Amino acid sequence: MAFDRSVKIAPSILSADFANFGAEIRAIEDHGADWVHVDVMDGHFVPNLTFGPPAVKAFRPHVKTVMDVHLMISPVDPYIDAYADAGADVLTAHIEAGPHIHRTVQAIKAAGMKAGVALNPGTPAESVQHLLDMVDLICVMTVNPGFGGQKFIDMADKVRALRSMIGDRPVHIEIDGGVDPNTAPKLVEAGADVLVAGSAVFKGGSVDKPEVYGQNMDAIRKSFSV
Ligand code: DX5
Ligand code: ZN
Repeated sequence: MAFDRSVKIAPSILSADFANFGAEIRAIEDHGADWVHVDVMDGHFVPNLTFGPPAVKAFRPHVKTVMDVHLMISPVDPYIDAYADAGADVLTAHIEAGPHIHRTVQAIKAAGMKAGVALNPGTPAESVQHLLDMVDLICVMTVNPGFGGQKFIDMADKVRALRSMIGDRPVHIEIDGGVDPNTAPKLVEAGADVLVAGSAVFKGGSVDKPEVYGQNMDAIRKSFSV
């Protein structure tokens, strides 16, 4: 996984058919997904519950691109090895999930994964300043985490601040929440290079109509490449 700052689309399978993950992952990848985003929620850090390590491990053989695992759980550290064993390529923890984000990032790297740090909308860009030499990705939440399909919260200023703090370091800026053809252009302009999108990719499509996923991803790409 060489570093690359071109804009990537990472569909969130939180919006997929939960009875058909293998086929859904193949459908989005066959129609242009760059990464596959997996939202892990614990019913404690966020008010919703999704996938544990065995489910993520079952997704792994279907993902041919990059499996980007977003942990919305607290605590994080006891589960890092389990998500490494499940095959995560990128493992992202929330800075708000505990008092020792530096230790968590060290542990994610030591387990052989790329390390991401996610920031809730109320958390400032400066909170990651002392992590920039060790992380691979900063995830800027543009909704309060927990559910797909929520209203976008504009964080373009935070993205711009992070982009300037990052400078030449090989650190991705990922946006998560409410990304669609209306919101994507100013985020890309501000310096984001990974766009997570759930509802905007999956809406109107299915494994029987996977071309709709492709059209939805094309609409997002076109919105910022004009
Ligand atoms: C929210 C999740 C997101 C979510 C995005 O807590 O982290 O990844 O699935 O969904 P949309 O794109 O529908 O806002
Ligand atoms: Zn997410």
